[in-house]
Amino acid sequence: MPDCNRIVVEYSNFQFSSGDAGVGWHMPGRIPQTFIDNLMARVDIVDVIDSRVPLKQSGRNHIARCPFHQEKTPSFTVNREKQLYHCFGCGAGGTAIGFLMDYAHLDFVEAVEDLAGLVGLEVPRSDPEGRTSAESQKLDVLYDLQKQVAEFYAHKLFDLDSGREAVRYLRRRGVDGGTARKFLLGFAPPGWDVLRERFSVEALNETGLTVRKENGQPYDRFRNRIIFPIRDRRGRVVGFGGRVLDDSLPKYLNSPETVLFEKSKQLYGLYELLSSKPHPHRILVVEGYMDVIALAQHGIRNAVATLGTAVSRSHLDLLFRYARELVFCFDGDQAGKQAAWRAVEIALPALTEGRTLRIMLLPEADDPDSLVRRDGREGFERSVAEATLLSDYFFNYLSTGLNLGELEGCANLVAKARPLIGRLPSGVFREMMEVRLRELARLENVEINDLGRSVDRKRFNRAAVRGRKKSSPIRLALTLIMQHPPLVGLIDSADRRLQEASSAGIRLLLEVADMIKQQPRITPGGLLERFRGTPEEISIRKLAETELIVPVEGIEAEFRGALSRILEQENEKRIEHLLEKAESASLSGQEREELRLLLPSWGGLH
Ligand code: UTP
Ligand code: MN
Repeated sequence: MPDCNRIVVEYSNFQFSSGDAGVGWHMPGRIPQTFIDNLMARVDIVDVIDSRVPLKQSGRNHIARCPFHQEKTPSFTVNREKQLYHCFGCGAGGTAIGFLMDYAHLDFVEAVEDLAGLVGLEVPRSDPEGRTSAESQKLDVLYDLQKQVAEFYAHKLFDLDSGREAVRYLRRRGVDGGTARKFLLGFAPPGWDVLRERFSVEALNETGLTVRKENGQPYDRFRNRIIFPIRDRRGRVVGFGGRVLDDSLPKYLNSPETVLFEKSKQLYGLYELLSSKPHPHRILVVEGYMDVIALAQHGIRNAVATLGTAVSRSHLDLLFRYARELVFCFDGDQAGKQAAWRAVEIALPALTEGRTLRIMLLPEADDPDSLVRRDGREGFERSVAEATLLSDYFFNYLSTGLNLGELEGCANLVAKARPLIGRLPSGVFREMMEVRLRELARLENVEINDLGRSVDRKRFNRAAVRGRKKSSPIRLALTLIMQHPPLVGLIDSADRRLQEASSAGIRLLLEVADMIKQQPRITPGGLLERFRGTPEEISIRKLAETELIVPVEGIEAEFRGALSRILEQENEKRIEHLLEKAESASLSGQEREELRLLLPSWGGLH
């Protein structure tokens, strides 16, 4: 009975420890499953993908060249009915949520938040980061403290007695009250215990607003400084920067990294930018808090600053979610040029199609603050528009000092550029960079072999083999029911033989049937989301992706046929079990009776 064995083998790695993939809370993010269901019912995967990877309609599918591997002809398909995407070339595939996670490097909760924003749903926030309620209560306390402290400092800035000096300093630098309010600027008075006298010592310590002396005695970190509260995208205060009012050192102090504050993931000014411009066309990345403030003061509201750290991949992914074009502003000195090149190297893998990166090297001894004050808004914006495209910057930087008129120089350039171009995601941009390298190095006729291609071919073959695997009735039934939910009416869940079946595949079928009964319009994509993180996820995805070749009129008959074959196989297994048992031990009266009833249905063995 080869078929029967195959079912067992194919599904033997399935586990049904809880059996409740479809109910309750979604473990990765503690978002209620009902919310995910609702989201999946409203989002259209075609819109989600099309806005990032432009799609072309082709029959019932939408197609494009796959963003996850290099290819010349499109094998990336998006299916609206199924709410799934799938690449026949590299095997990538999944739901709208999965696409955002892979394409924009989001985690599950972030992807859900993005999609929810798109369709105007509010993600239930009871525990968005998957923390226990005790942990999240503690975080709430810390967020609340930082908010109160920011407001306290802001109050001190606008207080005539305490804030006079600070206000004078800001005004001297061209910052007015409106800008100060927009950025919630504040002033930390000179005392050592100003905060301790007003707020919880323990919470102050956890957020780094106080520092401990060697004898353990805490004191305020920020004293006699202008305060720049750093807010996350939701507007919560996650940390602070503080600047002296004169030339003393250190010029800036910053909050340390805390549970609320991860510097490589936060950008100063992003919250303020998004609240005035939710869909900026371009974002400027500058180095200083004061650069962001000065630019905003001059009406340039699309600048953000890293927090005294180098720009990170997380920063880039975050920013590219909001704008297609980023402009990095760096000092024109040697250090600035080095920082710019480091940023370029980090950015390469993030440069998928449609994303543009420019490098703006400022005149020496200038920063965006001084430049905008001198050239005004228009002058500054002109410089931004003329900023060097990444591709130009890339080849200029790498060919500096090389003589491209000589073979050695060309070889050198190729050696330096090739591995870097290899880091670009596949697509038109990468191809253009390859062409340009070939031209520059006078290699017009030479193929610059990219690493990706041979790997892709292997993956393709594997995908093809998988597709050819013969279908078992349980696979067929699952595929049919996922793609044609009304078939659920043909399953008699009360059927004792189904209920008692030991096959994990049958239990999976019943589970899927249950989900469809709860939510008759659920799409294959919606079903797949219900299995996220479970051992069945991959199998469910494969089955949902399977292209059915059954004509519509034949679907019901095909499904009935599959069901009866499944039951037959169950019978066969049971008979085999009973016969085996009869050989080694004796059967109970009940088992004997069962065997008697089963045998007549067992084709051909009378
Ligand atoms: P800058 O010295 O360029 O700061 O340092 P700025 O914002 O232009 O300040 P002004 O114009 O002198 O007032 C860039 C960034 O580096 C970090 C801060 O984040 C600052 O905004 N930094 C700088 C520190 O964290 N500590 C320092 O002592 C100096
Ligand atoms: Mn400055």
